[in-house]
Amino acid sequence: MYTESKYKRYTITTALPYANGPVHIGHLAGVYVPADIYVRYLRAQGEEVLFIGGSDEHGVPITLKARNEGVTPQDIVDRYHQIIKESFKELGISFDIYSRTSSKGHHETASEFFKKLYNEGKFIEKNSMQYYDEEAGQFLADRYITGTCPHCGNERAYGDQCEACGTSLNATDLINPKSTLSGSQPVLRETKHWFLPLDQYETWLRDWILENHKEDWKANVYGQCKSWIEAGLQPRAVTRDLNWGVPVPLDEAAGKVLYVWFDAPIGYISFTKQLKGDDWEKWWKSPDSKLVHFIGKDNIVFHCIIFPCMLKAEGSYILPANVPANEFLNLEGDKISTSRNWAVWLHEYLKDFPEKQDVLRYVLCANAPETKDNDFTWKDFQTKNNSELVAILGNFVNRTLVLTHKYNGGKVPAATQMGELELQTLEEMKGFPERIGRSLENYRFREALAEMMNLARLGNKYLTEAEPWKTIQTRPEYALTSLHVSLQIVANLAVLCRPFLPFTADKLSRMLHLQTEKWSDAGAPLLAEGSVLEQPELLFDKIEDAAIEAQVNRLLETKRQNELNAWKPAPYKEKVNFEDFQKVDIRVGKVLECKKVPKADKLLEFLIDDGERKRTIVSGIAQSYPEPEKLVGRQVCFIANFEPRKLRGVLSEGMILSAADKDGKLVLVTPGREVTNGVNVG
Ligand code: 2FM
Ligand code: ZN
Repeated sequence: MYTESKYKRYTITTALPYANGPVHIGHLAGVYVPADIYVRYLRAQGEEVLFIGGSDEHGVPITLKARNEGVTPQDIVDRYHQIIKESFKELGISFDIYSRTSSKGHHETASEFFKKLYNEGKFIEKNSMQYYDEEAGQFLADRYITGTCPHCGNERAYGDQCEACGTSLNATDLINPKSTLSGSQPVLRETKHWFLPLDQYETWLRDWILENHKEDWKANVYGQCKSWIEAGLQPRAVTRDLNWGVPVPLDEAAGKVLYVWFDAPIGYISFTKQLKGDDWEKWWKSPDSKLVHFIGKDNIVFHCIIFPCMLKAEGSYILPANVPANEFLNLEGDKISTSRNWAVWLHEYLKDFPEKQDVLRYVLCANAPETKDNDFTWKDFQTKNNSELVAILGNFVNRTLVLTHKYNGGKVPAATQMGELELQTLEEMKGFPERIGRSLENYRFREALAEMMNLARLGNKYLTEAEPWKTIQTRPEYALTSLHVSLQIVANLAVLCRPFLPFTADKLSRMLHLQTEKWSDAGAPLLAEGSVLEQPELLFDKIEDAAIEAQVNRLLETKRQNELNAWKPAPYKEKVNFEDFQKVDIRVGKVLECKKVPKADKLLEFLIDDGERKRTIVSGIAQSYPEPEKLVGRQVCFIANFEPRKLRGVLSEGMILSAADKDGKLVLVTPGREVTNGVNVG
């Protein structure tokens, strides 16, 4: 390790995703890709690491989803736990354990944790008034209740949070609260709960975070902690009136469970126990262990304030040394949203782009929202693949290996003609492990990745200058020496790209028969003269426009669906009086002829039997009726007393009535049964 460290081992956790839906690129860029890069780097440094993940299987969103689908919460979490776990594995997220909070072991650990705090008098017991749905016969915790946010006016704020302005709320703050279960107005009822008195930890938190972590925690994380602490902390309920979760282990608490945000972070501990058995404690209790939580910004308060207060209250645990939270990733300029299906889902990506795990890892790391929200676009995904992975990294490796096979039978040539350029290039190569490593140790993953690519750039630059394809004719020994140097860069890339691109690293190591994955070996030449190389395989291939268009079209379709779902009737117009209405002469007539108006995409020319004579009416509905001749014989309603006017040279004597449906399609208004032509409508 390049930064001085007092630690002997690393306990690395990633936020436990709710098992009520698959994971998407926002989760990956924010949490799992950086965490996996960090862990793989630590392993390459020979450090002892424990990498923990798992599903968060409690909480109201899960019970609500189960209710909507008419299945049990267990069915929901079983389904998504499997999908999430498999897709993480396929992307190469190298968890040591990926467990779940509905497991027996977790329930036991979470119960014991609560009991210890309870027995030591660390909670406040309080009766309070909470919303209750009389129709459904249950208390309305968190998302069981919606209403208007008192801060921003969003009418769909939840009982625990407003997603529009990000404020965390109490259900009793909502204006016009409504039960999500029955839609009825809830009533307040008394109920007993247990609270963690965060206010009592304020002085300690100020000292621990504000005084001691100003330098080493990320500015966004430190800033959020500061504003929480300075706003004044309140006691926080750690139990809920619900029937899905870890039951509160007290006789007097029937029908109550631990609040999901109390039990979930304890998952990190219970999963450690599941994996390590009796050897678990050192990961959580030894000051030699460095605890790091990888999370998204919406989880900061829970991991920097609430969970540390729980650990502090318990007394025997270490605290996180760092909480490198990321901001959010947007998709094509719009906030990622599960409910609007505005996301790139990992399991779908893996189906659409098999064997391209590293491309996604690369793009998400290069665009990671480290200091501010960032955007994923399919165009940029294609560009990063084609112009960076293929054109810089892949191209360098491929040129080097192909030329070595061509000029030296696939064996690492001897370096007999080292000149100034060669020595200087190898000298430059030496600096990369440390530069990349320092960036990684400081959670600057984008910078680290860019530096790794700079090594490939160095390789390309060197090859271009050494020109072995030319010098092979005039100075063959020099040409082979230059391939020797290039191969050392390729081998270094195999080691240094591993945290970011593990599948590529495997492929490269196989092709090179490379013996080491150790970071400390990199910087120096890694391939011995004469060693045999496999036939080169392409590391990356171009992504064609068609593949990108298919993804963009899918998103456009999602957008269209969302617009339809969000449709509301246009605002109703001002009142008019009956006399005014009566001035409009609406009649029924029959279509005698109907045809397109030449050179006008939208217009149809109707000939109508109006009961008295034939009249021509031009109407702008051509796009909704592509076969106008089929309208002949239909009765339509039309306004008969508009001033005639010319449309594209045709004199139109009235207006045919149609309804514009929410998808924009126009539908002719017709009487419910055949009536006499010329009768009034009104
Ligand atoms: O925000 C979320 O998706 C939560 N399920 C994260 C929980 S992290 C931890 F505490 F378990
Ligand atoms: Zn709000």
